[in-house]
Amino acid sequence: MRPTREQAWETLTRYTKSESLRRHALAVEASVGFYARLYGEDEELWRCVALLHDFDYEIHPTLDKHPQDGAPILREEGYPEELIEAALSHAEHLAMPRDTQLKKVLFACDELSGFVHACGLVRPTGINGLEPQSVKKKLKQPSFAAGVHRDEVYAGAELLELSLDEHITNVVTAMQPIAKDLGLRSTEDG
Ligand SMILES: [Fe+2]
Ligand SMILES: [Fe+2]
Repeated sequence: MRPTREQAWETLTRYTKSESLRRHALAVEASVGFYARLYGEDEELWRCVALLHDFDYEIHPTLDKHPQDGAPILREEGYPEELIEAALSHAEHLAMPRDTQLKKVLFACDELSGFVHACGLVRPTGINGLEPQSVKKKLKQPSFAAGVHRDEVYAGAELLELSLDEHITNVVTAMQPIAKDLGLRSTEDG
């Protein structure tokens, strides 16, 4: 079966009721989708992987279950192994090789999308005009969005062989069109 974005969204929302988790999925989807286009890859498949990477977090909120116990559910739903393997690979504790561009991109976008989102929530203009410089400054404040693993943000940019500035710019650009869906203020709000 070839998964569609619609199907992935349906699976996600069946298992995930929390608005913040859904927003996390959407933010990572936007970022991963941006890189799929940039690299000329299968954008719909990449988006599905991003949407589903934490689909089981609400039912499996601990690392002894997430994301590994989500895999049989995805298999049951008919998702291809390529998608399941890529989704699982985001978890550091599983220590799976990030041997495809999709796995690298997912890892690189996961924590940074969350962090950029957090930056946008405390700005009057959301993520509009959010510069890498100010994101980097916030990364150095351990108390800000303390749950975001800084080492993974830095490792992600390295994995993509991008400067942190470029990677931040890409993620901000990717998330801008869906700012409203992410609960961020946007220019349309006036
Ligand atoms: Fe996760
Ligand atoms: Fe995540």
